[in-house]
Amino acid sequence: MHSYRTRQNRRVIGLGTGSTVLFAMEKLAAMVRDGFDIAGVPTSFQAAMRARELGIPLTTLDDHPFLDLAIDGADQVDPGFRVIKGRGAAHLREKCVAAAAGRFIVVADPGKIVSVLDAAVPLEVLPFAVTPVLCALKGLSGEPVIREGQRKDGPVITDNGNMVIDCRFGPIHQPEQLEISLSTIPGVLSCGMFCGFTEKTTIIVGDVAGARTLTRENVL
Ligand code: A5P
Repeated sequence: MHSYRTRQNRRVIGLGTGSTVLFAMEKLAAMVRDGFDIAGVPTSFQAAMRARELGIPLTTLDDHPFLDLAIDGADQVDPGFRVIKGRGAAHLREKCVAAAAGRFIVVADPGKIVSVLDAAVPLEVLPFAVTPVLCALKGLSGEPVIREGQRKDGPVITDNGNMVIDCRFGPIHQPEQLEISLSTIPGVLSCGMFCGFTEKTTIIVGDVAGARTLTRENVL
């Protein structure tokens, strides 16, 4: 595993966004209180705010371009550990952080484990290019919708100042191919398909009954 540490025992951890990863952040905060030398790279304003509230020290990818691990949530996970993310519009930074991490830990409830990915795929899109991107997605037989804010009129604007398109494709039988097709549309900054991290991914499935760790063999 690659790692880059300014201090011998420091663990630098990517902090994902969403409701599920908050439970993991509470565990990390307890470890910090117990004296573990941990610093987090937040993937969103939400993750940074939560980390500050919990007392988890923060750092950046500039200071730590290689992370020990990243912990994050998911919208859907398939048996090959391919993941759809982005319900919270943080997937651009989440993908940067996952790519920088030696291990990618995904925390999810059992309802997110599916045999075939079929959720709408979130795309972070440069506002300048939103209309050509909508046309390109229709050309891929997708059903794109610009994400609208809640308690805010008009489109969602991400932490990076961009727009979000959610695009349904029905059952996704070739996720790697779709990720490449979406990621190479000019104006798409990141798509919510995470197919490139399967070798370093661990899935932790948790609910009120407890948590279990899935391996590639026992996922379904
Ligand atoms: C943030 O943009 C997303 O990628 C979330 O990590 C993902 O949608 C999971 O969120 P929940 O844990 O809140 O379901």
